[in-house]
Amino acid sequence: MPASVVLGAQWGDEGKGKAIDQLAPNSQWAVRFQGGNNAGHTIVAGGTTLKMHLLPSGITSRDCKLVLGCGMVVDPWVLDRELMEWAELTGEQPEGERLFISERAAVILPFHRLYDSADKIVGTTGRGIGPAYRDRTERVGIRFVDIGLLLGRDSEIGDMARRMNDQLATVGVGDRIDPEQLGSELIWIHERFSNAIRATGPMLDTALNRGEQVLLEGAQGAMLDIDQGTYPFVTSSITCRANATHGAGIHPGHIEQCYGITKAYTTRVGNGPFPTELSLEEGPGKQMSVVGHEFGTTTGRPRRTGWLDAVALNESQRLNGYTGLVVTKLDVLGGLDELKICTSYELDGQEVSHLPSSSEELSRCKPVYETHPGFPAMGEDEWIQIAEESRNGGGIDSLPSEIRSYLSRIEEISGVPVVSVGVGPDRLASIASSGGPFDIELSEATF
Ligand code: GDP
Ligand code: IMO
Ligand code: MG
Repeated sequence: MPASVVLGAQWGDEGKGKAIDQLAPNSQWAVRFQGGNNAGHTIVAGGTTLKMHLLPSGITSRDCKLVLGCGMVVDPWVLDRELMEWAELTGEQPEGERLFISERAAVILPFHRLYDSADKIVGTTGRGIGPAYRDRTERVGIRFVDIGLLLGRDSEIGDMARRMNDQLATVGVGDRIDPEQLGSELIWIHERFSNAIRATGPMLDTALNRGEQVLLEGAQGAMLDIDQGTYPFVTSSITCRANATHGAGIHPGHIEQCYGITKAYTTRVGNGPFPTELSLEEGPGKQMSVVGHEFGTTTGRPRRTGWLDAVALNESQRLNGYTGLVVTKLDVLGGLDELKICTSYELDGQEVSHLPSSSEELSRCKPVYETHPGFPAMGEDEWIQIAEESRNGGGIDSLPSEIRSYLSRIEEISGVPVVSVGVGPDRLASIASSGGPFDIELSEATF
């Protein structure tokens, strides 16, 4: 059985958590392959809202095994807290039973968080993600497999603390790392997680060879990719399909389906160019923010909002080769007179149809829009009812014609079929294309 990938097609927060939660009942594994707790993936099922930062969103399916893959940077304290919250909610302690941490995943330490706090440019989440990846690239970082070997080697730990303190001084952070405390933190991580640390790449390879289905859960989005995104206003990992298998320790030939998750509009949190950005104070931008509750899942910062940017969407299709698009938060646009899609940019009097590689140039791009008719606003329950009716065989055809033509236009521009449409935060508030990969039985929450 093959692997499927779920990826953010924009600047993150597209609704990846919801899509993974929907697909997980048909998967034996859910795997995070990059990033760390800069991610915030929301699952709304019945009365329960879960916000996952490290735990794969497939955790909601009890038969789904979970992996924090080798491409990740993992903050053990955040993982501990998230596991405690999960245990409080469900009584389950999955670590070592169905949750496994790659030996090769990098460990985020307090130093990385402190160093990240010096960021003044990117508007990072401050979770230590970039500094942890930087240490890995510099080959001075600690991976989970290394911790056991380091314990008791006081002079090595002392050298490590000295290096960290020199770096904190360089960026003007006043706090310092105490070597003894660092030593005891490493002991705690070892004791807390050693039952879950495994060679997860070979585990997944064996599972795939046994015919099991693996779901690869992306974090962030294509436009935040370190190589292909709006550099330097990006995250520190490769967020795209090419890294999905590598960051899980398996080969790319396993991937059969790749789903791109895009909002019906665009949001971005943090700094950086955003050609279709609207005002948060009035009009459609305010509606997207207020109705869409556009606040960062991880940091609570307001997300910037704007019309759908098909130039960016097409770049992400070029990078990821989506087999299906999931268009989320369509409900949020209800009640607007007209909807706009940006189909190209104007830069210095010239029309451009690709994202410039320079963020400085991108920030000077003016969006060129086409306009589509709007559709009426509906309440959450009304949307859920339409979603329920759509499951009687109508699928996306159950939607009003204005919405269908908006979706058809997205398909036409991107060249990718829309396989599911989000019409509310709840697990059940989705309309899948009939017979498509999201046309699966959605159950009520079991926790
Ligand atoms: P992720 O990081 O891609 O998993 O997305 P987030 O969870 O950070 O942000 C998406 C937000 O939109 C969450 O609050 C979801 O509950 C919510 N959401 C997801 N799909 C829909 C939808 O179709 N309609 C509405 N109104 N909200 C949605
Ligand atoms: P999910 O998985 C939205 C953004 C930050 C900042 C930039 C770099 O929930 O979609 P970092 O802390 O990664 O060094 O910050 O990337 N960013 C996200 N934006 N959703 C995310 O994750 C993000 N993870 C990082 O706001 O602009
Ligand atoms: Mg998010």
